[in-house]
Amino acid sequence: MTDEIKHKAMKEIRDEVLALTISPLYEYRQENGYYPVVGEGSHDAEVVFIGEAPGKNEAKTARPFCGAAGKILDELLSTIALERSQIYITNIVKDRPPENRDPTPHEIALYAPYLDRQIEIIQPKVIATLGRFSMLYILQKYKADECFQTIGELHGKAVKVRTSYGHIWVLPLYHPAAAIYNQALKSTLKDDFLKLKELLERV
Ligand code: URA
Repeated sequence: MTDEIKHKAMKEIRDEVLALTISPLYEYRQENGYYPVVGEGSHDAEVVFIGEAPGKNEAKTARPFCGAAGKILDELLSTIALERSQIYITNIVKDRPPENRDPTPHEIALYAPYLDRQIEIIQPKVIATLGRFSMLYILQKYKADECFQTIGELHGKAVKVRTSYGHIWVLPLYHPAAAIYNQALKSTLKDDFLKLKELLERV
């Protein structure tokens, strides 16, 4: 796909998400003057990060991971010298759930096709999932045997999966928000980011 075609396909996704009036989160978006957060970064990224759903800062600015969790994510990226311009960051659910509650299975099912299309456009060699919702969705999507394991068991362990465009790696990571008040988890995340660095060096 040329850059122009990728750009156009991404724009179509954005326009469709903007017009997703059937979403249970649409009214909440409109009432609060929020935006959907579709995703940001390079359309040629080797790694796509997938979070859960936008928080308040994200919904106000339409940018993924720009609040407290984003600050931790930026810190982790800098430990392995990755710039946001080199990666693509998105979420499964593109609108903010009220009070940052967990996304419902219905919301995940409704927004997941947009994520699927984003993956097809970018065709990353590595998908780094942030938190258990995106981990479960991606492992189930690619029918990985590991989909029955917990994030405690799988974090930092690369899982090889077969996609429509060849084999790629899924690297489950804890959600950066979980490390805001938990130093031990932050240090686990730092170790797991080193694994991401090693993985990117060999793909
Ligand atoms: N948490 C997420 O999962 N995604 C964001 O964009 C921000 C916080």
